Amino acid sequence: MTAHFIVIGNPIAHSQSPLIHQKFAQQVNLDISYQRQFCPNDKASFQAVVNAFFNGGGVGANVTVPFKQMAYELCEDRLTKQAKIAKSVNTLFLQNGQICGDNTDGNGLVKHLQQLNWHLDGKNVAVIGAGGATRGILLPLLLAGANSVHIANRTVSNARILLEDFDKNIHKLGLHGFDFLEQQKLTYGSIEDLTGHYDLIINATSIGLSDEKLPLDDKLNCNYAYDMMYGCELKFLQHFAKKGAIVSNGFGMLVGQAMLSFQRWTGTSIDINRLYF
Ligand code: ATR
Repeated sequence: MTAHFIVIGNPIAHSQSPLIHQKFAQQVNLDISYQRQFCPNDKASFQAVVNAFFNGGGVGANVTVPFKQMAYELCEDRLTKQAKIAKSVNTLFLQNGQICGDNTDGNGLVKHLQQLNWHLDGKNVAVIGAGGATRGILLPLLLAGANSVHIANRTVSNARILLEDFDKNIHKLGLHGFDFLEQQKLTYGSIEDLTGHYDLIINATSIGLSDEKLPLDDKLNCNYAYDMMYGCELKFLQHFAKKGAIVSNGFGMLVGQAMLSFQRWTGTSIDINRLYF
């Protein structure tokens, strides 16, 4: 019997998720249908789409821009730790007949970095941006062994608010021994003040969608530069490639987060090294 999946977004026509999930299904011999689902950008429409899908026998749904926050709210307390910390949901699944939420974005990024052999253990990381994308990757980066994560943002107060909220949530969830702020493993500042050498610099801003340019300091350098965007990542990556860094866009992260969703839904195990796109 065919198992049904969707990805809900607006816009959604560009989504690569159906292609990626079909590759997973082929690898483990599963018969699936994975469709793009457009949804008007309001809460009532989103709820209606989600309910209709699961009431109709759907197995799992991915959620993308601009619905990740709405999906988080829809799941109330039926959330994985990752989704609670990220305060956003990219994966909806059923448990005891109830719709639950997970966030696989951060671990998807870590999976891709591992695949690239960009080891995080003991490394100093700078993340540019302090929006939803950054919120989702902080804990996975630190749990993967990063020595420190510095957040640089256009609006410095947004970075401070993000870190204070992150810290509060870590404690609320009873994750003891994770005093990242106190240990100065997590710091923040402006983009203009971001300077010196980092092992890894990640662009988690949405600037790629605009014509603007990040005000990067000449003395800012890194071994690796990663843009979480896929499709409009060129300026950021070219900047650091010219300075000798090894660079990657976010396509592998997209595959990584999709793989973690697929495995949760199907109970299968995907060998990411046997996938070709
Ligand atoms: P989300 O919806 O993911 O929460 P967003 O509002 O789209 O986030 O913004 C994501 C990040 O991109 C933010 O850190 C934002 O910086 P501000 O906090 O200063 O708004 C950053 N960003 C967006 N456009 C930018 C630009 N032109 N230059 C620098 N940073 C930018």
